[in-house]
Amino acid sequence: MKKIFAANWKLHKNPTEAKAFCNKLKMEFEKVTNQNQKRLILFPSAISLDAVSQCLGGSEVEFGCQNCYYETKGAFTGENSAAVVKDLGGKWVLIGHSERRQYFSETNSILAKKIQSVLSLGLRPLLCIGESLAERESGKTFSVLETQLKEALVECHDKTHMSIAYEPIWAIGTGRVATLDQIKETHEFIFKTLTALGFVETTPILYGGSVKPENASEILNLPHVDGCLVGGASLEVDSFLKIVGSLGE
Ligand code: PGA
Repeated sequence: MKKIFAANWKLHKNPTEAKAFCNKLKMEFEKVTNQNQKRLILFPSAISLDAVSQCLGGSEVEFGCQNCYYETKGAFTGENSAAVVKDLGGKWVLIGHSERRQYFSETNSILAKKIQSVLSLGLRPLLCIGESLAERESGKTFSVLETQLKEALVECHDKTHMSIAYEPIWAIGTGRVATLDQIKETHEFIFKTLTALGFVETTPILYGGSVKPENASEILNLPHVDGCLVGGASLEVDSFLKIVGSLGE
């Protein structure tokens, strides 16, 4: 299975900046070794999606939206739908990032509807799950993750197109990365939970939270780590491609 390198730009990069990034990325990605073993996905802000779509058309680099509403159209002022992402040629939608859960009150039941909407359009949801520091320190990590998975995936009958990103909230944007042991045992737990829920063994499980060129290779070489979701270090082509290039070193 190809390793996945996903860039979550959050609320960064206007369309002009997004185009400049994509043009440079396309040129530089050619030089990366073992390119055919790597799958790159960009998640720009919704308003830069069209620019990214125009720039990446015909290239190997994939893209998607950071969020979508679960209805495809209607009187929902300010929302975007997965149908628009599809029309622009995007294949992915990030679902339930911890910032969406924290600042926009997204619950597991809302996420379950979003996942259905994305899958029904033939796109791939990348569901984010993760525990807070208090939950980790009180030994609740696995039960929190299990609840997030079970509740968000409760209506998910398509067991072959799901993807998961494990992002401990305390490691996002903090520079504090989880230890290799923590990542290893948590990914193994997620893998087993997904298997018990009937998902195919090849369901990708990405790690996210302060992934950088310096730590990417050791994380990516752990069992059940199928890729990474990168925030801060994905904003520059150089650091993003250093992460992509670090695999196999
Ligand atoms: P970070 O963000 O790499 O800046 O920690 C990751 C994310 O929020 O997806």
